Amino acid sequence: MQSASAVLALLVSAVLAVPDTTSFSSVPNTYPNFTACLSEPSVYSCENTTKIANTCCSPTPGGLVLQTQFWSTWTGLEKQGQKLPKGSWTIHGLWPDNCDGSFEQYCDFTRQYDPAPPAGVPAYTGPGVDTFIKEFGRLDLLEYMDNYWINQGAPNKNFWAHEFSKHATCTSTFDVACYGSSYKKNQDVINFFDAVIRAFHQYPTYDLLASAGIVPSNKTSYSLQQIENALKTQTSAVPYLGCINNGTALSEVWYFSHVYGTEQYGTYKTLDSTTPSTCSSTSPIWYHERTATSEHEVRK
Ligand SMILES: *[C@@H]1O[C@H](CO)[C@@H](O)[C@H](O)[C@H]1NC(C)=O
Ligand SMILES: *[C@@H]1O[C@H](CO)[C@@H](O)[C@H](O)[C@H]1NC(C)=O
Ligand SMILES: *[C@@H]1O[C@H](CO)[C@@H](O)[C@H](O)[C@H]1NC(C)=O
Ligand SMILES: *[C@@H]1O[C@H](CO)[C@@H](O)[C@H](O)[C@H]1NC(C)=O
Repeated sequence: MQSASAVLALLVSAVLAVPDTTSFSSVPNTYPNFTACLSEPSVYSCENTTKIANTCCSPTPGGLVLQTQFWSTWTGLEKQGQKLPKGSWTIHGLWPDNCDGSFEQYCDFTRQYDPAPPAGVPAYTGPGVDTFIKEFGRLDLLEYMDNYWINQGAPNKNFWAHEFSKHATCTSTFDVACYGSSYKKNQDVINFFDAVIRAFHQYPTYDLLASAGIVPSNKTSYSLQQIENALKTQTSAVPYLGCINNGTALSEVWYFSHVYGTEQYGTYKTLDSTTPSTCSSTSPIWYHERTATSEHEVRK
């Protein structure tokens, strides 16, 4: 039998001696192959003056990119542990609107993973997209998504699948062809999820509002103008704001942008919304506190 100090010494040496490179390099990469983009002209999407020849290099035709978020006060699956992140809005998605604001959806039925799509789109019945993430060894990504990409009334993974199949299949920089001949099935799905999170990080709505003194409250309301001004001050553009309860309760934000480079790794230029707000410009707007049991601490 080993003494407690011997066990401790063993543990310490194990922690110190084993660098994590072996497990790290065993995670297969999900990168596209954008080598050919080197010879393409540099343009913002929707601002090109000539035809974009290689659509892997710039989202085309969906070059008006929307990073969308929710402010909701409940999930309906709290008992199963599906809760909202304290101090943060949640992810809705990353959408490729056409330059004129119209949009395509469900562009590739061979990459249809939505278990509950609209009529005309075949329902998916295979394993959830969470299993794709696990197959790529990306438990870090799965944990982040379970913290910040939250569904209402159904499991989170169904929502992630819906967002991929409805929107990413219409975003040219996630086309299967952009991954080259060594394409591994579902690497585009993982690559999209990473890209959504990267875009979400550019727009920390909770913090943008809080820094202007706008915090959730069931006692104090705000005006649409106050909320829009707070966001405009910090992103140089007015996003779309969505409200429920006849325009009186804040529930959504959509940040519009053109992208310089690829949607995955390029630079987003934030632009004014082309969609009018559904929040009242005259009534007080409530930015409700969440029910205490509907949220949890995830920032460690
Ligand atoms: C990436 O694509 C280029 C052609 O555009 C090709 O020459 C290269 O071998 C590809 N790289 C990989 C790692 O597949
Ligand atoms: C930009 O490129 C797209 C895709 O090739 C093309 O459809 C569009 O006409 C181009 N825009 C202009 C102004 O040339
Ligand atoms: C919704 O808001 C409009 C404009 O403020 C108001 O005229 C209407 O009565 C409201 N409807 C309901 C059902 O409260
Ligand atoms: C605040 O109000 C919302 C909407 O009525 C409600 O769902 C929530 O539980 C309230 N939160 C608190 C902490 O009272």
